[in-house]
Amino acid sequence: MTTITKIPLGKNGPLVSKLGLGCMRMSSVWGGPVNDENESIATIQAALDSGINFLNTGDFYGAGHNELLVGKAIKGRRDDAFISVKFGAIFYNGQWLGLDLRPIAIKNFINYSLVRLGIDTIDLYQPCRLDNSVPLEDVIGTVADLIKEGKVRQLGVSEITADQLRKAHSVHPVSALEIGYSLADRQIENDLLPTAKELGIGVVAFANTAEGLLTGDMKAPLPAGNYHSHFSRFQGENLVKNLETVEVLKKMAKEKGYTPTQLAIAWVNAQGDHIMPLVSMSRRSRLPENTAAMEIVFSAEEMNILNTRFAQGAILGGTYLQR
Ligand SMILES: NC(=O)c1ccc[n+]([C@@H]2O[C@H](COP(=O)([O-])OP(=O)(O)OC[C@H]3O[C@@H](n4cnc5c(N)ncnc54)[C@H](OP(=O)(O)O)[C@@H]3O)[C@@H](O)[C@H]2O)c1
Repeated sequence: MTTITKIPLGKNGPLVSKLGLGCMRMSSVWGGPVNDENESIATIQAALDSGINFLNTGDFYGAGHNELLVGKAIKGRRDDAFISVKFGAIFYNGQWLGLDLRPIAIKNFINYSLVRLGIDTIDLYQPCRLDNSVPLEDVIGTVADLIKEGKVRQLGVSEITADQLRKAHSVHPVSALEIGYSLADRQIENDLLPTAKELGIGVVAFANTAEGLLTGDMKAPLPAGNYHSHFSRFQGENLVKNLETVEVLKKMAKEKGYTPTQLAIAWVNAQGDHIMPLVSMSRRSRLPENTAAMEIVFSAEEMNILNTRFAQGAILGGTYLQR
């Protein structure tokens, strides 16, 4: 069994596992089916048993359903878990309606989150996005007040720009940046990643498999009605070319005796001691494969092949991450 190492989350931050468990897909965010609840809870508990303490949820993942699941899974073992919660997204019947980042709303959100999770303090609390509807200072300032009150331990941010990150950090120290990052989506290397590193902010990197593209299981064309077909990356010639590029990953994975998903996670893991792959797993059977990815070491030559073949722009078309 792989030993999951611990890293400080941000400069002098609390120790968290170098691999995080994303719980989002255990609930219905966009109106799809709900995963088997017993299996979801068992997966969270098995992750904790295996040394993964970083659990990622959001109050809008299934309208509180996800927090209730996490709450059930950590009952009686609060100290084993580090709970990261996003807030601010307003969904209605599986539709994204926008953001509510007003201080009065945030104070309302956190009380409901604490009850659903069954805890007194959220370890990492973060606006899921920022927009101009409420001044950044007021959003961050409200979380800072919650930290003073003891309802929150650390401030996080998600999907923001380098300028916003700097500004947020000047209002209150930011411990973690949650952001999409993979071999297929490397644009944050231009400014956001260097800024996070300079400021000593931990990076919680999700979508390591780029919506399944890097699992090696996709075939062109996708079946009609497939959710991925909304994104230009998975359409027509783009998908054909992208799958050709993914063959490089598949070949290397075969040579090294791993799966393409494991290599995709390992590549993110290798990008820095302060970068944590955050991986969705809704069933226990995913854990052995994904935790073993944390042992993978790339030679300089292998890293060069991946970085060259998956250079920025090599993967054609976008997903929701380029919105
Ligand atoms: N801040 C944000 O805006 C934001 C946005 C999106 C996600 N997130 C967070 O980040 C987490 C991860 O993001 P994500 O779900 O988009 O990406 P992901 O971790 O790449 O997961 C995508 C899919 O990969 C599947 N998977 C996991 N291990 C696999 C394996 N070994 N082989 C094949 N498939 C595998 C998962 O399936 P199963 O679920 O069936 O196990 C999941 O459906 C989420 O749970 C959420 O907590 C944050």
